[in-house]
Amino acid sequence: MSSTLIKPQTINAPQIQLTQLYPQSLQLSQQQFKRISQFMEKTTGIKLPESKRSMIQARLANRLKVLNFDSYSQYIDFVFSSKEHADEEITMMIDLLTTNLTHFFREQTHFDFMENSVLPALVNDGITKPEIWSAGCSSGEEPYTLSIVMREFMSKNPGQITDYSILATDISTRILSKAIDALYPIESVEKLPYAIKHKYFLKSKDPSKPFAKPKSEVKNKIRFERLNFMDPVFNIQPKKHIIFCRNVLIYFDKQTQLNVIGKLIDCLVPGGFLFLGHSETIFGSNFPIKTVSTTVFQKTKEY
Ligand SMILES: C[S@@+](CC[C@H](N)C(=O)[O-])C[C@H]1O[C@@H](n2cnc3c(N)ncnc32)[C@H](O)[C@@H]1O
Repeated sequence: MSSTLIKPQTINAPQIQLTQLYPQSLQLSQQQFKRISQFMEKTTGIKLPESKRSMIQARLANRLKVLNFDSYSQYIDFVFSSKEHADEEITMMIDLLTTNLTHFFREQTHFDFMENSVLPALVNDGITKPEIWSAGCSSGEEPYTLSIVMREFMSKNPGQITDYSILATDISTRILSKAIDALYPIESVEKLPYAIKHKYFLKSKDPSKPFAKPKSEVKNKIRFERLNFMDPVFNIQPKKHIIFCRNVLIYFDKQTQLNVIGKLIDCLVPGGFLFLGHSETIFGSNFPIKTVSTTVFQKTKEY
């Protein structure tokens, strides 16, 4: 018996593109995307390349629903009109288009370096009340971590540091109110050492709403404020001994990064320390700083 091979049939399935699932009016055209991305870059420094078009469309889709608009052109007219609500909507749009990823003790080596090298160096210079700034603080995990590090240092080295103060800023008002509320899903502290969780966090009693909250002594050393890195000068007083500005500069172009770094260095006392994100660095510039560890810089003392 001869056997015939049955060839698998080629099925010419139509190629469905995701964008076809939306009516034309609910797709962000290239021109509309350009309008938004140019505005974002000018106002916040954040570069949104063409590859982010569908992300922007998705993030703004819900806003269109809330405002009862059936097209992006209606939304764009609304945002960029000169009417009084436009300012509010711009704040809302910036909130939706910023990336806020963060977590407690993110890039742990920085916090170890701060505790083991930076704080002893400040103490050595006679600083007993360090001023700290978490610039681009997102939902607060970074400044709360800094506050915990300070308390740990103070309990391990009694009398060396007597107090501290932390300023935490971000451009996004939505994320700042989250930071002030300080209610975190319980999973966000799960991986922290038991001693840290126990000492510095409260756990909700209601098992249907499990969340963790930093204790008041951790919280009450932090002041939250809105600040845009594009502001021509940062009116930050007093000057800081430590600035953390991590995982923010990656969203800016080279020149904007250098401008922001220059303004941050101006806010440091001589001998103060600047921490950038692990994938961020400063090169090709004449800033009065030296590298003291991976992505950690110290302002020249004579400056
Ligand atoms: C990815 S988060 C980093 C949070 C934290 N520093 C960390 O490393 O985990 C970046 C934050 O920078 C803020 N941001 C972006 N552009 C800004 C600007 N022009 N001025 C101030 N904050 C800005 C965003 O709102 C966001 O919360």
